Amino acid sequence: MMKIVQMTEKQLNIEALRKAGEILQRGGLVAFPTETVYGLGGNALDPEASKKIYAAKGRPSDNPLIVHIAKIEDLLAIVSEIPEKAERLKKAYWPGPLTMIFHKSDKVPYETTGGLDSVAVRFPSNRIAKALIQQAGGYLAAPSANISGRPSPTLAVHVQEDLGDRIDMIIDGGQVDIGLESTIVDFTEDSPIVLRPGYLDRSMLEQVLGEVRIDHAILSADSRVRSKAPGMRYKHYAPQADLVVVKGLEKDIPGKIRELVHEKIDAGYKTGIICTSETKGEYPEGIICSIGCRADEESIARHLYEVLRKFDNDGVEYIYSESFYTPRIGEAIMNRLLKAAGHEIIEI
Ligand code: TXA
Ligand code: MG
Repeated sequence: MMKIVQMTEKQLNIEALRKAGEILQRGGLVAFPTETVYGLGGNALDPEASKKIYAAKGRPSDNPLIVHIAKIEDLLAIVSEIPEKAERLKKAYWPGPLTMIFHKSDKVPYETTGGLDSVAVRFPSNRIAKALIQQAGGYLAAPSANISGRPSPTLAVHVQEDLGDRIDMIIDGGQVDIGLESTIVDFTEDSPIVLRPGYLDRSMLEQVLGEVRIDHAILSADSRVRSKAPGMRYKHYAPQADLVVVKGLEKDIPGKIRELVHEKIDAGYKTGIICTSETKGEYPEGIICSIGCRADEESIARHLYEVLRKFDNDGVEYIYSESFYTPRIGEAIMNRLLKAAGHEIIEI
């Protein structure tokens, strides 16, 4: 029987964490909260555990896993060198929503890195995650705890929906803080490259590193441009509904969406709208879902995946979304939203 245990960062359940640690040390799988999204943890140094992670998620085995650590010193054992710029970035932003890619040491099995000679490493700040990693022996491989191709989980119930019957335990730490996966920076080439945008935005990276390169595949709507992060290449979450993002001046967007929604409802389709608390009063029909508040861009990031899951569960057939080019994390929010929409955009 799969176990779900609840705890908060303020009040850790040490007994449950010890049990979870034992499960992981024996090669089992435990889902746990981080500040970004829920992760599906397995011992990163145990090739069999990594294979189980791929099987549980239905993930292609050439898509590498991130190794999570909970002590800065533990980095040394799993990488072969730490470039000076990475050293600076880790001082500035670890623990936190940042993943860095290094050349790996022999300690890390190829099963964990999807056959690559590099390893992605993250030191999360969530206290539950840190305690669990330590109980498990220091190295947890953890992709997002969703079935491959579904939105990343931001609540324990999302993990249960996707993986409830495939894993040994879920630690429910409530809703995550950030709601988008970590920023990934690759340090295996001459200069650092951002492979996945996240809560740590470009300017926060550039404050520490000087100018950074962005993987051209992130910026391109053309899926033929190959990303260096295997996971960014796969067709990502596509909702069951046809999702279209409407782009243009903020003041013009609700009117355009009203028109599009009206057409679909007239034709008999179940139609949803992704909007914000500022605009939700502007939609007289359709299933309206406010994702958050424009004045608080973090609320938009936190609810994005939850809203997409909700529409899937409701059997909605068409979704029209406002666009959210918010000042700081808008780049990361729109990266995920446009992928979910298969880059279907209406420009007004
Ligand atoms: O916030 C996060 O990073 C969450 C939480 C659980 O920590 N984890 C997460 O893992 O998002 P996952 O597996 O869903 O995404 C990892 C991404 C994939 O796109 C993968 O291809 C890329 O990181 N990646 C991992 N190792 C890599 C490597 N050695 N070289 C290039 N890309 C790598
Ligand atoms: Mg993922």
